[in-house]
Amino acid sequence: MAAPRKIIIDTDPGQDDAAAIMLAFGSRAELDILGITTVAGNVPLALTARNARILCELCGRTDVRVFAGADRPLARPLVTAEHVHGKTGLDGPELAEPSMPLAEGHAVDFIVETLRREPEGTVTLCTLGPLTNIALALEKAPDIAARIRELVMMGGGFFEGGNITPAAEFNVYVDPEAAARVLAAGIPIVMMPLDLTHRVLTLKTRVAKIRALGSKPALALAEMLEFFERFDVEKYGSDGGPLHDPTVIAYLLKPELFQGRDCNVEIETASPLTLGMTVVDWWHVTDRPKNARVMRFIDDQGFFDLLTERLAAI
Ligand code: RIB
Ligand code: CA
Repeated sequence: MAAPRKIIIDTDPGQDDAAAIMLAFGSRAELDILGITTVAGNVPLALTARNARILCELCGRTDVRVFAGADRPLARPLVTAEHVHGKTGLDGPELAEPSMPLAEGHAVDFIVETLRREPEGTVTLCTLGPLTNIALALEKAPDIAARIRELVMMGGGFFEGGNITPAAEFNVYVDPEAAARVLAAGIPIVMMPLDLTHRVLTLKTRVAKIRALGSKPALALAEMLEFFERFDVEKYGSDGGPLHDPTVIAYLLKPELFQGRDCNVEIETASPLTLGMTVVDWWHVTDRPKNARVMRFIDDQGFFDLLTERLAAI
């Protein structure tokens, strides 16, 4: 078996972030988590940094360092999503405050130092929240762009539209300037937009299988998902809600579950009406550079089989 793939998870936990982090924790043979960097998004930074450590302790992974990063977007006031994730960002289960400390230093410095230390082209960035930390790292150290193996991001939407506004998906909407910088940096990017994640629903039968694993992480995640999905169930009238963030990790583990194509993706950063919209040239009607591999289709049952299998391995 090949050496585990080195990754940094940049995240704003968030119940779906929790599922992604747990999927990574359950995949030790394939993924070497160099660190978790937190960013303000679903809830303010103090809570995302708290929540990431809670997840590490819940899963017995206090070996993984957690860094605090940007507490606000590059150029706008922070917009949060307590209406979806609850006051703490991990509402659902009763969770103890973390005892593990934050790692020393700022997340952006950790990202820069890690990319400069590790051999070129060996580190993958997995972004589950607003792209503020990545944009700041690129601003501080433009040389790192060429050193990134791949950046796999949950964000954006095209034919599906938006979830925080009719036009914009939350991660991109919170920091559209950051998203625009990252997409213009020449990094190999794989994008998991709402068009894909809305096909990945936490059906009752699927959550029941997760709960049936019976472990502390699985029981906690089942409660998180049952809290998290209520907003989308009410909005879309669906059985379960879209499980966005773990698609990023699943792509690293089983890319064959996904289908998409290389496209140009631009970000609206000016219009108040469509701020944060990802304009995806899916039909290649422009000659703009194809700066992202945009995923649109997924084997959703294969995804949940993988997630459940790896939760059992934490
Ligand atoms: O739009 C969904 C994204 O916004 C997910 O990453 C969710 O955790 C929130 O951050
Ligand atoms: Ca997230």
